Parts: sequence; structure tokens; C-alpha cells
Amino acid sequence: MPDHGEDIALSALTVGAESHPVGTDDFPLLGSRALGVRRDALCSVNAVAKGWLEAQTLRQSVLGWPAGPAAGDTGALTRHLFVVDAAGESIGVVSFTPHPCPSRPGIRATYLWGMAVRSDAQRVGHGTRLAKAVLEDARETGAALVWADARLTAVQFYQRLGAVPEGPTCIDDVTGLTDQRVLFDLSNGSDKA
Ligand SMILES: CC(C)(COP(=O)(O)OP(=O)(O)OC[C@H]1O[C@@H](n2cnc3c(N)ncnc32)[C@H](O)[C@@H]1OP(=O)(O)O)[C@@H](O)C(=O)NCCC(=O)NCCS
Repeated sequence: MPDHGEDIALSALTVGAESHPVGTDDFPLLGSRALGVRRDALCSVNAVAKGWLEAQTLRQSVLGWPAGPAAGDTGALTRHLFVVDAAGESIGVVSFTPHPCPSRPGIRATYLWGMAVRSDAQRVGHGTRLAKAVLEDARETGAALVWADARLTAVQFYQRLGAVPEGPTCIDDVTGLTDQRVLFDLSNGSDKA
């Protein structure tokens, strides 16, 4: 898998009502040591607005989601993580927040959604970087579990990173596609981040 760490920035932001006033300090940068985040990628209001718009466009085109924010997008604890290419354009996105998994109500968990990599940039490792960053952040914040409702075509992607499918499949209300819940158990080191 090629290493795009040189020219691709991985950066995080919040867009919730709680996230203003906007300033450099308001941008939580995930795993900056491990991931080599370029801090200058996230220094202006315009960068945030641009990144967020691009992320929504990406999710529309890649996931088939409707325009506008999805449930949870503007939650106070929600963060959106991007892969930004050398031209400053977002080519991958994932969103995540602390949220218990319904089948493990007593366990501190992180829920991730909206994982999308632009079609011409898939299969070169961007999705892996995004997922690993979420896992790393979850671990650092004390979560024992990371979970997602994955479309069937993406289940192998999560499994390759150590996730385990759980429970019956269900139909996604928005896309009509079949989803499978996948769980990363951070407590036993089975995830591969
Ligand atoms: C699924 C997705 C996020 C993966 O991101 P990516 O950047 O393409 O993935 P990576 O390059 O990090 O892939 C790592 C490995 O995961 C596996 N993988 C990735 N996408 C896969 C897919 N669609 N089907 C099966 N395995 C897949 C492969 O083993 C791949 O390694 P390989 O390319 O050497 O075979 C991306 O392909 C995507 O946006 N797909 C369409 C939208 C989608 O399904 N999103 C997930 C919603 S739950």
C-alpha cells in the first residue's frame, strides 16, 4: 500500500453548535504524532467551511446520502476527520462520536459513520488511515469498543482492520442498502490499528 503521508494531510474538525468561536485551538487534531498532521491545514474558518462542504459532497457522491448534515453530524462531541490531498481538497471523510453500542450498553464506546473515500482515490490506503485514526483516538479517550453499521460491500474493509461482524443485518433507512454491524474490541488488542 503506498504511503501518502508526505503529501496528504489528515485533519479533524467539529462543526457542531458547540464548536465556535473558531480558532486554531478549536480544532482537535487527531493522532498528530502518529499521523504527521499538517497543522497549517486547519488554520482558518474558510478551511473548515470548505472541508465540511466537501465532506458532505463526498458523502453524497460516494455513499448516496442526501444533501445536508446527517444525524449526529453536529453533535457537540462529534468530530469529522478528513484526508486532504496536496491541492487541499478533501478526498476522504469519516465522522465519529462517543456513543454506546446498543448490544454493549455498559461499555465506553465510539460510534463511526459516514466513512467515504472519493472513488478515484480508493484502495490506496486512505480509508485505512481514517479508520486507524478513529481507533487510535478512541483508545486514547478510554473507549473499549468502536462500532459502525457497515454496508455489506465494506464489511471486509473493516474486518481486515480487526472488526468482527455482529448480529443480524438490517436495511438502512436512507440508502435502502443492507447494513451489518461491525465491532472493534479495543480491550483485547484484536484491532489492527
Ligand atoms: C470502503 C472504503 C471506505 C475503503 O476505503 P479505501 O481507501 O478504498 O480502503 P483502503 O485502500 O484503505 O483498503 C484497505 C483494504 O481494505 C479492503 N477493502 C477496501 N475496500 C474494499 C471493498 N470495497 N471491498 C472489499 N475489500 C475492501 C481491501 O483488502 C483493501 O486492501 P487492498 O486494496 O490491498 O486489497 C472506500 O472504498 C469507500 O469509500 N467505498 C465506498 C463507500 C463505502 O462503502 N463506505 C463505507 C460505508 S460503511
